[in-house]
Amino acid sequence: MAFVVTDNCIQCKYTDCVAVCPADAFYEGPNFMVISPIECIDCGLCVPECDAQAIFQEDELTPDQEVFIALNEELAEVWPNITEVKPALPEAEKWNGVPDKLDMLEK
Ligand code: SF4
Ligand code: F3S
Repeated sequence: MAFVVTDNCIQCKYTDCVAVCPADAFYEGPNFMVISPIECIDCGLCVPECDAQAIFQEDELTPDQEVFIALNEELAEVWPNITEVKPALPEAEKWNGVPDKLDMLEK
């Protein structure tokens, strides 16, 4: 079991999640963040840190968000690790809460 970053992180990427992760399990892409399911220790500490409320436990995902399980696993293998907070994307406030941003995901 692991926690999964979902749709609402896209175009926001606040990065506060990475500051609390004891496993350094976050990997960063251009406009999205993922969690390595191999490294996540299922502590849940990152969940309340995310201003976009984009992080959920794998078995609590709604059906439309289940696609993000494979995406987190796949992209954590290719994107660089991130352990320090950085500024959110410039239009994060505009995109926070906008549904269905998967088409905008940059790999
Ligand atoms: Fe890191 Fe814990 Fe979040 Fe997993 S649940 S990504 S170990 S903070
Ligand atoms: Fe994304 Fe939330 Fe982290 S927006 S970068 S999962 S704090």
